Amino acid sequence: MIKALILAGGKGARLRPLALHIPKPIVPLANIPFLFFQIDRVKRANITEIILSLSYQPRKITDIFGDGMQYGVIMRYSHEAQPLGTAGAFKAAENLIDDTTIVLNGDILTNVDLLEVLHFHRKKKAEATIVTVRVMNPSGYGLVETASDGRIMRFTEKPPEDEVTGDTVNAGIYILERRALDRIPAGNAQSFERELFPAMAQEKAKIFAYPMQGFWQDIGSPAKYLEAGFGVISGRVQLPRYPHSSCRLNDWEKSRITVDAFSLLDGKCVIKPGAMIENSILGEDCRVEEGARIKDSVIWSGTRILPGARIERSIVGRQCYIGEGARLRPGTVLGDKSSASDFSIL
Ligand code: GDD
Ligand code: MG
Repeated sequence: MIKALILAGGKGARLRPLALHIPKPIVPLANIPFLFFQIDRVKRANITEIILSLSYQPRKITDIFGDGMQYGVIMRYSHEAQPLGTAGAFKAAENLIDDTTIVLNGDILTNVDLLEVLHFHRKKKAEATIVTVRVMNPSGYGLVETASDGRIMRFTEKPPEDEVTGDTVNAGIYILERRALDRIPAGNAQSFERELFPAMAQEKAKIFAYPMQGFWQDIGSPAKYLEAGFGVISGRVQLPRYPHSSCRLNDWEKSRITVDAFSLLDGKCVIKPGAMIENSILGEDCRVEEGARIKDSVIWSGTRILPGARIERSIVGRQCYIGEGARLRPGTVLGDKSSASDFSIL
């Protein structure tokens, strides 16, 4: 049976301070723990058995998903005491894998149709298929070079800027035949991107690229996390089903405050008259006082925003305090329990 394996063992260092108290795979995106978006993607391809590969803060993740039944999936876990790298994590889950496997990085948001990718994989009789995407700045990603039939000729993880030859990169979604496990030695750290894929390309193994169209965004840094949120509220990525849902305001509520059609607010937020919220996401129990303005931003739960504060293109963690008239300029990222005192400018 085809299963999905989600790699969720990274530390999320580049997402600090947001991923300090919450492991990156479950940071809230549109008020929903991130992995729900991936579970949703996988379910849409009729795959219901998912292996979560964990290493860093595993308990916080297993507590949310349990056996998966509540969310219509069978969830299994593979733990590494020491992080074994991406390919090492796949190898460590070997005894849970019995067939072709869809492997996903735990920090990418996409609307790619995995059934189409599977179809492509089978048509090519590939041993490995890598979904690729075109990006503006490829140097932070795995650069993929293909022949005209889609076969991967070269895979270069995070090439230095002067070695970037194209704009097509690894989207962090793979379909792997079980026999690919035999290429990975057991017990030590191994990387798909630095070892397995470059080696397969070099020896002309059947490793193909599936160039995806549509929405793709990783959440590896605060700026990227913000873009992923915009992808959701603009409707480019569907919201997964989730028991505690957020809402968009009805007309009566909108007549008292200004909230644009894109913004997503948890039902338990309190928004005072005269506040303005535009293209933003607010988590549970936030309180926005008179005349405060929030634009293109994400506010996690329990934050208070005092009268006249202005927040633009910023991310605010849990239980923060944004003082009266304070101003968060574009690019501000506040970790949990931060405060901006009255009239400060960040
Ligand atoms: N279980 C486990 N063990 N998971 C791991 C480990 C590990 O040792 N190391 C990393 N991961 C998980 C991370 O949690 C993440 O979900 C995924 O593997 C990729 O690791 P990142 O640290 O996010 O890698 P990256 O963002 O620098 O680059 C990767 O993603 C790009 C697309 O976003 C590479 O796959 C690039 O080639 C790719 O372009
Ligand atoms: Mg990443």
